[in-house]
Amino acid sequence: MITYKTPEDFKKMEAAGKVVSNIHYEIYDKTKAGMTLIDLDDIAKNIIEKSNVKASFLGYHDYPAHICASPNDVIVHGIPNDYIVNEGDIISIDVGVIFEGYHADAAFSFGVGEITEEEKNLLLKTKHALHEGIKLVKDGQKLGTIGHKIDKIAKKNNFGNVRNYVGHGIGQEMHEEPQVPHYGKKNQGFELKTGMAICIEPMFNLGTEENFIDEDGWTIRTLDGKKSAHWEHTIGITEEGTRVFTENLF
Ligand code: MF3
Ligand code: CO
Repeated sequence: MITYKTPEDFKKMEAAGKVVSNIHYEIYDKTKAGMTLIDLDDIAKNIIEKSNVKASFLGYHDYPAHICASPNDVIVHGIPNDYIVNEGDIISIDVGVIFEGYHADAAFSFGVGEITEEEKNLLLKTKHALHEGIKLVKDGQKLGTIGHKIDKIAKKNNFGNVRNYVGHGIGQEMHEEPQVPHYGKKNQGFELKTGMAICIEPMFNLGTEENFIDEDGWTIRTLDGKKSAHWEHTIGITEEGTRVFTENLF
């Protein structure tokens, strides 16, 4: 089902988005080599508990944590565990929260200490692809046009562009219709309308786009073991135009 948001609903999503941005910033600021992924989850937990919001992920299909923490070859849905963060790691952090019944969901990736030029480019281009996609979000736009743009950026840089996980509508549920693929054909696919909110979340890999689910049933890893980046924002098409509710400093 496609849901339409009122200006009041969008205000709640904006408030949820601010908390998500705060969590991103705190994790980015505090993460140091030697910490575990559970330490990062604790940072999110503390902010959520003092911010009058609830965690979107915790308990979702029995998901056991507040964030997804996805190091290196983990593309998405990494469960925070006792993995110790190392210099040279690329870590993707994905967080969602609910404020007065409305979700916001966003992800970003960062390097711990020194990373290679190739890895820096992976981070930069994944983020760039998300922002180029966001620029196209408006009433009447077709999702195929947005997906095509994102895929073109991946292809130009020779990155694997993950196809079997996609973005989504968002609102009172974290995952609503429509599905938002990061590939497509111009002027085809689902047509966006004012009142809709979506998450666009490209996942680019240094190697193959192919991936598999780890033994824990959640963690998605690249098939060739090469590194991956993930960037996501929650975006609303309001009466006043397109708004990114999870805007951050990165
Ligand atoms: N944020 C993810 C997404 O964009 C969902 C995480 S799955 C969960 O779809 F189980 F961790 F919640
Ligand atoms: Co999402």
